[in-house]
Amino acid sequence: MGKSSFGNKFIVTTWGESHGKALGAVVDGCPAGLSLCEEDIQAFLDRRKPGQSRYTTTRKEGDLVEILSGVFEGRTTGTPISLMVRNTDQRSRDYGNIAYSYRPGHADYTYDQKYGFRDYRGGGRSSGRETTGRVAAGAIAVKLLQELGISFCTYTKSIGPVTAEAFSKEEINANAFYMPDAQAAEKAGEYLEQCMKNHDSAGGVIECRINNVPAGLGDPVFGKLDAVFAQALMSIGAVKAVEIGDGFQVTSLNGSTDNDGFCNENGVITKTSNHAGGILGGMSDGSEIILRAHIKPTPSISQVQQTVTKDGENLSLEIHGRHDPVIVPRAVVVVEAMAALTLTDALFQNMSARLDNIVKFYGRD
Ligand SMILES: Cc1cc2nc3c(=O)[nH]c(=O)nc-3n(C[C@H](O)[C@H](O)[C@H](O)COP(=O)(O)O)c2cc1C
Repeated sequence: MGKSSFGNKFIVTTWGESHGKALGAVVDGCPAGLSLCEEDIQAFLDRRKPGQSRYTTTRKEGDLVEILSGVFEGRTTGTPISLMVRNTDQRSRDYGNIAYSYRPGHADYTYDQKYGFRDYRGGGRSSGRETTGRVAAGAIAVKLLQELGISFCTYTKSIGPVTAEAFSKEEINANAFYMPDAQAAEKAGEYLEQCMKNHDSAGGVIECRINNVPAGLGDPVFGKLDAVFAQALMSIGAVKAVEIGDGFQVTSLNGSTDNDGFCNENGVITKTSNHAGGILGGMSDGSEIILRAHIKPTPSISQVQQTVTKDGENLSLEIHGRHDPVIVPRAVVVVEAMAALTLTDALFQNMSARLDNIVKFYGRD
């Protein structure tokens, strides 16, 4: 039952429910000496806030983070860092009908089957609000990785049938969807307007690119880097598939077009292409890591849907309340956070992979 923690050396535990008093995370294993303040974390939380455009729910989540422990005089102390975000906009009455029936596409039915009892307010633990703790913890991981020159670029690749074809890094933060292509963002807006008119929702794809990752991260065989990334991203609600590099496309390629050649450029070994998305044999190969998370359409829609009550009676369900027509823009920073947590943990695990490194660290002349 206890599966709210992630990581082996950089361990993150998230806690809290949608309509509880607060949500948060405990980060255990963060080295001492990292400069950290609430503003560092707040900047990340603000990226997943609702109410930022007409395509995200108007529910007003203040989402102000408090650091309760593990930081002293602006630096981490090496002790557990406890992060808390109080819930301030909990209108439970919007969710009254889900206490007795199962919303299609949600976790209500399976929670009841497993535990026999559930916090039905706003989906409880299965709510997208749970990702608040992930994002807060991920902000620390990103900051830590920055110290090593590792950087992230995460954006919306597609919404419904609209795919970003152009790429402008500046554009990502200039539109409501975090799309790197202004024209595609406009078309995505038109598509979502249509969905909203039809009381329907849309899905999409988030792409995360990570640069300057050293080669060798990832632990064959069950801790392969691609396997851990897949687990991390699939653990986010609404993610239904994960791709690495060419992903689904590899099935239609040939060995000759899928293989990445190697070359030596002035003593540095690089690859001639990156179909593998930066991971070979379950370990980072030093090139850009490319991940994609496929997100399903928002399950809460205001169309009448067929379901059953807890007692097994058939019911025509109408869901009222505030829901995004698309989850993707708010999940962009969640994907980045989970990728950063995965990489930080892999980095720390890798430190004991080679005797010569251990001797270099501890050895006495
Ligand atoms: C950041 C984020 C925000 C979400 N917001 C909503 C939402 O507003 N409405 C909704 O119906 N589902 C939302 N979800 C998705 C549901 O939580 C999720 O689909 C549901 O718990 C069922 O889990 P599954 O899709 O993984 O099977 C959100 C998910 C994430 C990651």
